[in-house]
Amino acid sequence: MANLLRVDASIRTEGSVSRAVADSAVAAWSTEHPGSTVCRRDLTGSPLPADAWARAVTARGVAEPARTAEQRDALALVAVLADEIIAADALVLASPLYNFGVSQHTKTWIDLLIADPRLGPGTTVLEGKPALLVVAQGGGYREGTPRHGWDHSTAYLERILGDNFAMDLRSVVADLTLAAVNPAMAHLTTDAEHALAAAHEEAARHGKSLGAAA
Ligand SMILES: Cc1cc2nc3c(=O)[nH]c(=O)nc-3n(C[C@H](O)[C@H](O)[C@H](O)COP(=O)(O)O)c2cc1C
Repeated sequence: MANLLRVDASIRTEGSVSRAVADSAVAAWSTEHPGSTVCRRDLTGSPLPADAWARAVTARGVAEPARTAEQRDALALVAVLADEIIAADALVLASPLYNFGVSQHTKTWIDLLIADPRLGPGTTVLEGKPALLVVAQGGGYREGTPRHGWDHSTAYLERILGDNFAMDLRSVVADLTLAAVNPAMAHLTTDAEHALAAAHEEAARHGKSLGAAA
């Protein structure tokens, strides 16, 4: 039976654009694969411990019997997260832009994945696995806009998933999500509505193609 791993990083549950757009992708995936399972990891609902990564990395240089309980727990967590993505037939990662950078929750998840020897640099276990990155941004960073280049999250996530893990990656960006609530962005409301509709459409299309590729 096909298995999709869905990872969410928005700090919101109500009104989250990244979660809603990911829903469109997952619905399309489920239609493509009736009876498939969706394994969910909510990085903000159940945050990963921020100190686990350092403990896991330092534990590697310590002989097993000499490891602390915290180091063992961190290595066990790393293995669970790696097992999850390795077992999945496809991945949907929904990660908003925060403070012009990658969500700290997403970064912790990625660092822990890379701490597993099966997923470290040069490994190929995720190569070709279909993946969709869903990004939500309050502002707009497209080419030609004043803040083009200020989004330091999307390219990083694409680098990790598409190049470091060599996954078969697609991306969807829903931008201008703050236009509806920020008076300074009122003139962008229509653009934001179009961007959101396009993001849902693209996500559904990609969700279907994830299913076909997997
Ligand atoms: C603490 C915080 C920081 C944010 N920083 C940025 C930012 O640097 N640039 C931006 O375009 N939007 C920023 N936003 C807006 C979010 O990217 C936007 O609301 C997005 O839709 C959040 O994803 P969600 O709708 O899935 O919750 C920020 C939002 C919060 C709560």
